[in-house]
Amino acid sequence: MSIAWTSRYALRMKGTKSSAIRELLKLTQNPEVISFAGGLPASDLFPIERFKEACRKALEQSAALALQYGETEGYKPLREMIARHISRYGIKAQTENILVTTGSQQALDLIGKLLINAGDRVLVEAPTYLGALQAFNLYGAEYVSVPCDENGLRSDLLEASLRSGPKFMYVLPNFQNPSGTTLSEERRRALVMLANRYGIPIVEDDPYGQLRYEGEHLPPLVVLDRENVPRDSGYTLGNVIYLSTFSKTLAPGLRLGWVVAPPEVIAKLVQLKQGSDLHTSTFAQIVAYEVARDNFLDKHVKRLRIVYRERRDVMLDALSQYFPPGVIWTRPKGGLFLWVTLPNGMDANELFREALKQNVAFVPGDSFFAPDGQRQEGSQHFRMNFSYAQPEEIREGIRRLSVAAKTQLERLRVTHQS
Ligand SMILES: Cc1ncc(COP(=O)(O)O)c(C=O)c1O
Repeated sequence: MSIAWTSRYALRMKGTKSSAIRELLKLTQNPEVISFAGGLPASDLFPIERFKEACRKALEQSAALALQYGETEGYKPLREMIARHISRYGIKAQTENILVTTGSQQALDLIGKLLINAGDRVLVEAPTYLGALQAFNLYGAEYVSVPCDENGLRSDLLEASLRSGPKFMYVLPNFQNPSGTTLSEERRRALVMLANRYGIPIVEDDPYGQLRYEGEHLPPLVVLDRENVPRDSGYTLGNVIYLSTFSKTLAPGLRLGWVVAPPEVIAKLVQLKQGSDLHTSTFAQIVAYEVARDNFLDKHVKRLRIVYRERRDVMLDALSQYFPPGVIWTRPKGGLFLWVTLPNGMDANELFREALKQNVAFVPGDSFFAPDGQRQEGSQHFRMNFSYAQPEEIREGIRRLSVAAKTQLERLRVTHQS
């Protein structure tokens, strides 16, 4: 007798389904399609020679370590390197504050496991990173969404939402995925102050902070939060769990991210991680360490900034040149994405179908909104990635997309007239 698998699935699987758009996004694998859909760094910039050398060294000099089981917390020299690296942004962490994870996506899953009981509310930005929603949904999260504008989360609207007692806030202060906007310093301070006043933890997700193309670096929430903690307490207290990753600066295929948190939180996450994967690949950690060392990572990030800034500018230019009036978009100062808003009456999902006919793709906005009532707003927006395609492809892709947009606008005009 063959098993009816659906009758065996746990309750948490209820409501998990792959969306129609996800299925359509598979079509973007077609080489004819210019895709602005993925959050992919440029494959042509991967430092392949440096990786080859690092793999050779890992196997020649540290094979017994690299191929063996390792500590759940992560490879110590890599954690020390991360501590030095983030100290430049003012984050004063010791190795006991750092846990290496299998991508920061795993950190989101572990945080969901640690903090969310079914029915707990998580305060999120509208829009927010859809991978976080996917991770938190599995633990039965509900949501309180707070609107954003060009300066990020509207901290002036935060207090009412905090009064409803969310379990924690999930915030992306730098070059947000999907909108590309950055939380202003004033709002960062307001956010940290309110979190402190209401006793609500902050999960600060920062994969893009180093990829700044203009303007001054702004203090992370985790640093501003430390200003509220007595100086002699070391890094034992604090309201912020900070996440980052090597995915956007070295290579996502490494699957290496990290968490910075007070040691008691790290200890709990370590327990959860043991149940999940024992530890992150030691081989990948040693290779990343060997690649990044001797300031290579800094030099590499400088190069990424130059190339991505150029790609962003090409996309912004092409949007101004080709797009019909009434469509607006954000001007991100860093990161990998910009966010387009369509005029009233236009629908990003319909545009997506039209765009696929022109062999160009993006991600429609709905999936970036938590299911607490603001989702409809999403259909007026879409996310565009500018890091992956070459400049000439970006220009051609935007041209194709504008053809799709004009076709849809014309159809709307005809429907209105008839
Ligand atoms: C905001 C945000 N958080 C987390 C992740 C997951 O990154 P990774 O698991 O590759 O470190 C991403 C990936 O795009 C992201 O944009």
